[in-house]
Amino acid sequence: MNEGTDMSSPELSQFPPDFVWGAASASYQVEGGVDEGGRGESIWDRFCATPGKVRNGDSGAIACDFFHRHRDDIALMKELGIDAFRLSIAWPRIVPQGRGEVNREGLDFYDRLVDELLNAGVRPFVTLYHWDLPQVLEDRGGWPARETVDAFAEYVEAVAGRLGDRVGHWITQNEPWVASWLGYGWGKHAPGRTNEADALAAAHHLLLSHGRAVEILRSAAPTSEIGITLDLHPVYPASEENADAAAAAHVDGFHNRWYLDPIFRGSYPEDMLEYFAANGPRVLDGDLELIQTPIDFLGVNNYSRRLVRADPNGGDPMNVRKPESQYTDMDWEVYPDGLHDLLVRVRDDYGPRSIYITENGAAFPDVRGHDGSVRDPERRSYLESHIAAVGRAVEAGAPVKGYFVWTLLDNFEWGWGYWKRFGLVYVDFPTLERIPKESFSWYREFISKQRTGKATELAHA
Ligand code: FCB
Repeated sequence: MNEGTDMSSPELSQFPPDFVWGAASASYQVEGGVDEGGRGESIWDRFCATPGKVRNGDSGAIACDFFHRHRDDIALMKELGIDAFRLSIAWPRIVPQGRGEVNREGLDFYDRLVDELLNAGVRPFVTLYHWDLPQVLEDRGGWPARETVDAFAEYVEAVAGRLGDRVGHWITQNEPWVASWLGYGWGKHAPGRTNEADALAAAHHLLLSHGRAVEILRSAAPTSEIGITLDLHPVYPASEENADAAAAAHVDGFHNRWYLDPIFRGSYPEDMLEYFAANGPRVLDGDLELIQTPIDFLGVNNYSRRLVRADPNGGDPMNVRKPESQYTDMDWEVYPDGLHDLLVRVRDDYGPRSIYITENGAAFPDVRGHDGSVRDPERRSYLESHIAAVGRAVEAGAPVKGYFVWTLLDNFEWGWGYWKRFGLVYVDFPTLERIPKESFSWYREFISKQRTGKATELAHA
């Protein structure tokens, strides 16, 4: 374990004084209260209720009960000392029927939440879509249907009209790759479809909905900063063989360039258009211009790297496991240099105005000790080494403005249910008791040192 003195420790000097330290969350994973406040059904309620879809039959019906306990959780955020909290809005709370009537109670809930955060000195970073589509919209075709983009635009107007005066940072979409491929291509996430053409249509409409949301937010909240969050993976070939390099380029095209290229260059990558051939999305005139509408920041979610080699039988690239590496409870390789490489590459190839790390963190099988405490040295070491990697990327000129740990509270981890714990705070799900882990104390001290260190630097400047 790294004791905070070796090469992987983050250095104070690496981060600018206004760097934002935060923690992230998502509505369905923490809120619960699914039948309260006039909320409609979401695709995740339906998916969880479908036998065999989510481990152990778990669902977000109660989750962390953040819907009722958010004041206590904001007190925890204050104790942690974070500058910002990333939350998402549950679309089914705002437009329960998908189109038409806006549910005032739903808006009231987020209105209060935003005020409570601001009163606690914590800035809200608000994600508009973190995967909880109203089920009625899925019944009418879901994201593969172009009409869903119009429904999203109406929802965004309602939210921006209400919160636009106080929310300084907006994230239109969270991880369109996951929403489209796990949801529509491979059936691992809600709504559980398994069709490549649906996945590609969904991805196009998610990107299009992002462009529409940017336009709406620009006029409703002109002083706020607007971005989109992508799950990006640094991809490495397992050898110097040409075939492995080609495999890595393909995986990069599939995960990264398919989203980065349209957003920053206004085109889909040629090699991937060729690869998807007949199943490619229907792109109408003006779509790519809309997707390319300038943004203020790119949100980057990153947890690991991809190490790949070509399939000798000509199939899709294969993942390579490194026996000497550490893997988290998700079986994701711990590889902090990947985050550095990714940030520098994104800066070089796409030149975003700024970048926020909107998610980074690790799941480990935490348990409470006899004294009731939760020791999680692996998580602390993971965070330390990844924050240090971000620091090196900042020094190399990547315009990173902030970092959000995934996540504040152990929560509903999608298809894995409550089995995977990513939190800085342990949640005892039967009682909903919150127990800050050791990593919570580490992050609190780290943030506090950043502040006092910066204050001293400024005083001597
Ligand atoms: C990301 C999701 C987030 C969380 C983490 C572990 O893909 O955006 O909701 O589940 O993974």
